[in-house]
Amino acid sequence: MSRRNTDELPILPAPVTEPQPGGEVHVDEWVAPDVCDEHGLLRAGKVLEWMDVVGALAATRWGRQPAVTVAVDGCELLELVRVGERVTMRARVAHTSGRTIGVAVSMTVQRSRLDAPRRVLAGYMTFVVVDGAGKPAPVPAFSPQTPEELALHREGALRREFHRELTIGQAVLARPELLIDTPDGPRREAMILDVLREMGMKLAGKRWRTTGLRSPQQSYVHKIEPVRGGKLDFHGTLYRGTLMRWIEGCGAMSASAFVDAPARLRGVHGLSFLAPVVSNVFVHLSAKVAHSSPDAVTVHVQAQAEDPLSRSITRSVRGFLTYEPVAGDVVIPGVARADAEEAELYCEVSLRLALRDKVAMVHDAR
Ligand SMILES: CC(C)(COP(=O)(O)OP(=O)(O)OC[C@H]1O[C@@H](n2cnc3c(N)ncnc32)[C@H](O)[C@@H]1OP(=O)(O)O)[C@@H](O)C(=O)NCCC(=O)NCCS
Repeated sequence: MSRRNTDELPILPAPVTEPQPGGEVHVDEWVAPDVCDEHGLLRAGKVLEWMDVVGALAATRWGRQPAVTVAVDGCELLELVRVGERVTMRARVAHTSGRTIGVAVSMTVQRSRLDAPRRVLAGYMTFVVVDGAGKPAPVPAFSPQTPEELALHREGALRREFHRELTIGQAVLARPELLIDTPDGPRREAMILDVLREMGMKLAGKRWRTTGLRSPQQSYVHKIEPVRGGKLDFHGTLYRGTLMRWIEGCGAMSASAFVDAPARLRGVHGLSFLAPVVSNVFVHLSAKVAHSSPDAVTVHVQAQAEDPLSRSITRSVRGFLTYEPVAGDVVIPGVARADAEEAELYCEVSLRLALRDKVAMVHDAR
């Protein structure tokens, strides 16, 4: 076998030593029938899967080490996407903390060559890069430059503050007015009252009046999925796109049971990935409606991994998905809160929806 002389080797570009600000991952997808539901609409679970692919690539490039999804902090599905359309997903780093990379993800659809692309999804995800031992590692800092980057960075800072306050205990819950400052007065007042009412109940541990309301128990769904070799990614853990599809499917069943009609995903308002799901476990997916408004219901979803041999149970995912009835004339019942846990979940969703409104204001103000 002949050896090439090093003089003949092509000259390679110098390795990238600094992350590239504004570097974007861009993916075009054709909405084929196999990713659509029986109405010819793009399945929400598939959208979450694509989000994760572009988001993880953007985060891994930035962190220059394998990145794992730690949260889908928020995601709004703004318009339906139909079979045969072509969509473009984009992900770019928006914010960094010591050990997290926040990635903004968007999806656009161009319905004809003459139309301008329309944004049909806006989302924000948090990734952590992990070292060889699976521990979170430091990440290079991102500094925004353009007005758009600055707005996304502000969104990231808000989301991070929200997560921090929820984690360290109740600061946001104790001061909901910090999050609820939408310009429309009556709605703002109503939301503050709503949240404060919930807090009062939570602190007092009283029972809620349930007349005329529907119990979350009526929307309870429990599914079990086995995790075998074919479902694993290159980290050797459950492929997160699969997990997201399972979670979304379970959430949709729960929302439909609550409103007595088909429901479709409108947004994700916090989905935390607490621990990786390893092979040879059974994933218990459960979902129950936690909050409702006149036009949507928000479902609390959880995934727990059971290893029947060691009898261990690991909490893997916890989050909130918001659904709307497919038909416009469905009357959505209120959510009965029979105990402190249900009231606390209702309160948390109220705050998460207020955060969503505040994030929208950040972008509107730009
Ligand atoms: C990522 C993981 C290793 C983090 O481990 P951990 O012990 O929870 O680490 P920490 O609590 O110290 O958090 C690490 C960083 O993530 C941030 N973080 C943790 N959970 C978060 C959440 N839900 N939202 C936003 N940020 C979060 C923390 O603030 C911290 O960042 P900082 O140091 O810059 O403040 C662990 O949560 C994990 O393995 N999760 C599952 C990931 C996965 O498998 N995803 C794919 C799902 S199939």
